[in-house]
Amino acid sequence: MIFTELLNGKTLKRPPVWIMRQAGRYLPEYKEVRKSADNFIEFCLTPEKACEVTLQPIRRYGFDASIIFSDILLIPHAMGREVRFIPGTGPVLEKLSDISQLRAPAHEDFLNYLKPVSQAVELTRSKLPEKTALIGFSGAPWTLMTYMLEGGSSRDFNLSRQWLWSEPAQSEKLLQILCDYIVSFLSLQAKAGANVLMLFDSWAGAVPAARRKTVIIDMHNQIISDLRAQNIHLPIISFPKGLSEGLIEYCEQVDIQALGLDHYTDRHWAARSLRKDIALQGNLDPLALVTGGDQMKAEIDDILECFSNRRHIFNLGHGIVPQTPPEHVSELLALLRQ
Ligand code: CP3
Repeated sequence: MIFTELLNGKTLKRPPVWIMRQAGRYLPEYKEVRKSADNFIEFCLTPEKACEVTLQPIRRYGFDASIIFSDILLIPHAMGREVRFIPGTGPVLEKLSDISQLRAPAHEDFLNYLKPVSQAVELTRSKLPEKTALIGFSGAPWTLMTYMLEGGSSRDFNLSRQWLWSEPAQSEKLLQILCDYIVSFLSLQAKAGANVLMLFDSWAGAVPAARRKTVIIDMHNQIISDLRAQNIHLPIISFPKGLSEGLIEYCEQVDIQALGLDHYTDRHWAARSLRKDIALQGNLDPLALVTGGDQMKAEIDDILECFSNRRHIFNLGHGIVPQTPPEHVSELLALLRQ
């Protein structure tokens, strides 16, 4: 499995490649299966369907890694919060404004509820080619907290940042509660056969710099050390999106095997400045992939050149968007593999 070999320290001639959200609405075969479930959460919690759509991009493109089809918002849902996905609007959650509104379930009930994810991981691992790695994942505490407090996606994260300043004790408590569920969720996927674990802190960039240490770094460290204490030694990819120069400190303080770079980060700066024993993953702009052709080729050449002297996983800087022509992904792979 070249993907895990790279994560464990091996230098490869060409970077392994996968794409965030590679199972998704740009694929007609995904939309076909998606039609069979009207509720997105129910879709994620049906092991046969989750397995099928996880395998689709592997069949079509032969990526080096697959990522189990599920969602970071399954955690708030399993914690008893209402979560709905409204087409065209995105996720809508019941807003949390005080920790006393939380009826956090026992870990046993939480895990029972998420058992279909464990079954999906097991089933998918049994069907994947042996050389293809399977990534299990979770949202990180801060990103999950923003969805719970804002009631959905947000532009400015005003409610969440307000909480950090005016409700420090409640913020810490909520982050801590989430941390423990995240460890349980990742450990469930590890035990079911995931080969790699990934932590998505998609809105890390919204944390005020003065709070990065406690909200991002300390939380990620706690998750990783709790997993290690449970004897889970799978490689970890972290994606603290939007941290910019904060990535230097992050990499110095968090023991990860790979770091996801978004497309706003200057890759040449990152290649020079970030701890060399961490593999870097990224960072083609998803819209360059939509464009394809010469524009995309020039970016790919720059990425390959930029990371030629460090361990690198080719990926986008964020998830693939629904308007991406599937042929552009074939074009991308042809360029990487020539
Ligand atoms: O292929 C894969 O990458 C695996 C599946 C995956 C999904 N969500 C499936 C999904 C992964 C890794 C995620 C992670 C996720 N979910 C994140 C972190 C990564 C990131 O993008 O920053 C976040 C923030 C979410 C929350 C979420 N789920 C949003 C904002 C949306 C989009 C809502 C919309 O309508 O655009 C989702 C829904 C979702 N999760 C879709 C997919 C394929 C699309 C919904 C559908 O098919 O109906």
